[in-house]
Amino acid sequence: MNERARVTEIARDQYLISVYVPGFNLRFNHFLIKDEEPLLFHTGMKQMFPLVRDGVASVIDPARIRWISFSHYEADECGALNEWLHVAPQATALCGLVGALVSVNDMAIRPARVIAHDEVLTIGRSRVRFRQTPHVPHNWEAGLLFEEGSRTLFCSDLFTHEGDTEPMIESDIVERAKQSLIDGQKGPFANAYPYTPLTEPLLHGLAQLEPRQLALMHGSVFVGDGGRALRELAATMRDVLGKGAV
Ligand SMILES: [Fe+2]
Ligand SMILES: [Fe+2]
Repeated sequence: MNERARVTEIARDQYLISVYVPGFNLRFNHFLIKDEEPLLFHTGMKQMFPLVRDGVASVIDPARIRWISFSHYEADECGALNEWLHVAPQATALCGLVGALVSVNDMAIRPARVIAHDEVLTIGRSRVRFRQTPHVPHNWEAGLLFEEGSRTLFCSDLFTHEGDTEPMIESDIVERAKQSLIDGQKGPFANAYPYTPLTEPLLHGLAQLEPRQLALMHGSVFVGDGGRALRELAATMRDVLGKGAV
């Protein structure tokens, strides 16, 4: 693991805090929106907490974090939730109803603020819209956040690609994701992403938000036509995953 997280401003007052883990050949990305009510998207794993906290501290005092959000209940998404709730006394987890009632409210030291599908929360200049996206990228409780001013979609494991990648790219995102989906169909981590009747309509619904940044968890943040990339990803997932068992 890196000794320090790499911190990059990906849009005005939006920061990528990224840690590379050689054993997985994968980057783990965490995002901070610096605003009146600072929001962290992805807590990171517990083991990674000191690195991510120090990365946040290079931008703001971690105690100021007000909202802690994530897509679904996995260690890289929310494993360090309680560490963050300790460090930031005013912080509240922000997630959908299923995530709160099925997992978070039982495991966390404070209950979550439930955000409804398509509800918009104003956290200062920034306005984050929540989309419930069951099984996209995976897990029943999955959801994603879209910041409306910057048009940044915090899209979790969508577009995952391996390697010690650069912070931001302007091309190749779907090709990289496709290769990763194909490679990922073999080996111990196969079948990470289900393909359901909801997959394509949910991805097309996200595409209609017309994101300008795709702030993804594993790999490089994409800057460009995010709507087109999402529509292409939908077609790619249908081709690669929609054929059934491998
Ligand atoms: Fe995940
Ligand atoms: Fe992940």
